[in-house]
Amino acid sequence: MAKYANITGWGKCMPPAVMTNEDMATVLDTTDEWIKTRTGISARRVSHVPVSDLAAVAGHRALAAAAVEPEEVDLLIVATCTPDTVIPSTAAHVQKKMGAANAAVMDLNAGCSGFIYSLEVATAMIRAAGYKKALVIGGERITWFLNWSLRDTAVLFGDGAGAVLLEAGEEENGLLASHLGCEGEALDALLVPNFGTAGDRFIEDYHKFNVSFDGREIFRRAVRGMAQEIKLVLAELGMTDQDIDIIIPHQANARIIESLAHHLSVPMSQVALNIQHYGNTSAATIPVALCELLEEGRIRPGDNLLLAAFGAGLTRGAGLIRWGDRVTPLAESDVELAPCDQTALEIMSDAIKHTG
Ligand code: UT7
Repeated sequence: MAKYANITGWGKCMPPAVMTNEDMATVLDTTDEWIKTRTGISARRVSHVPVSDLAAVAGHRALAAAAVEPEEVDLLIVATCTPDTVIPSTAAHVQKKMGAANAAVMDLNAGCSGFIYSLEVATAMIRAAGYKKALVIGGERITWFLNWSLRDTAVLFGDGAGAVLLEAGEEENGLLASHLGCEGEALDALLVPNFGTAGDRFIEDYHKFNVSFDGREIFRRAVRGMAQEIKLVLAELGMTDQDIDIIIPHQANARIIESLAHHLSVPMSQVALNIQHYGNTSAATIPVALCELLEEGRIRPGDNLLLAAFGAGLTRGAGLIRWGDRVTPLAESDVELAPCDQTALEIMSDAIKHTG
């Protein structure tokens, strides 16, 4: 059995339609000033296609970066809470779209912490169950869920996908330690009640999602929960804050990220921050940020990358990745999303009409 699961490929897919804060202000009682100062967000992407399309393109890009063919993948996990369909999993759709015919597939829903959870599961399956090449994708189409009468949630989220390929190896790289948790007693702080078998499917408002959301409560628990998990991860590895080269935190609010950096005494120059462009893309956030760090040449061989996230559940998690030798892709994929000829507001116009 392999000792480690190294990250050898990475790729992202952001849908092209951009919804700015100014666009938001045309359909909601909000302002660019409020959104920017309270969250750090300036714009977000709105997908014109299902999650599996975004995930498949990100997946192809990750495989190309590692020069691996889809048929070689033996495990495919999609971290998402906005699946294409509940039956089958989004991962099954992605397998079909990518031609990854030899992969075992599953979705993993841990809200915004889904990517860290999936990374731990895939790493453990490589180390303990003999899988060789695992594609882990975080993909979301959160805009589809948004209730456009609720300004406190509608402005926060966006769509996208990011993927990494893990390969069995003997060098001490990849996810070296992680710790996951959940504060289930606070699950009401982020809940979409009218979707799923606990809901009454015959009520008139079914599918008119009343997002139950307590931003202040999540904010408070987020900083504390991430800090707690990070402490456990660093202790397991015998590391301190000083050993961290880059932090890749979940991007839900720039103020949460700044609080975490402050708590860890790590300067913001060592923290990934892209919330201004994409908002909160839930499980896609961390792999997308990781890809961008690599594209910008900010990750060096051997770097220690600290991941931390929190989300619906209220889940939380942290993990430490030791990066390997290669920081550039071996090749690029020519697979692209279907073209989009609509603006973000046009894509969302029905949702705005029906839920606004
Ligand atoms: O990843 C998991 C999901 N992410 C999160 O849960 C994010 C965590 N929470 C947060 O980031 C912050 O709590 C928010 C950004 C959601 C809210 O920021 P806040 O500083 O906690 O604001 P607040 O909820 O205390 O609201 C302050 C005021 C309220 O007005 P009143 O009652 O003081 O008159 C809100 O009605 O801001 C108002 N408000 C808005 N105003 C303009 C709330 N949303 C908006 C908006 N535009 N979009």
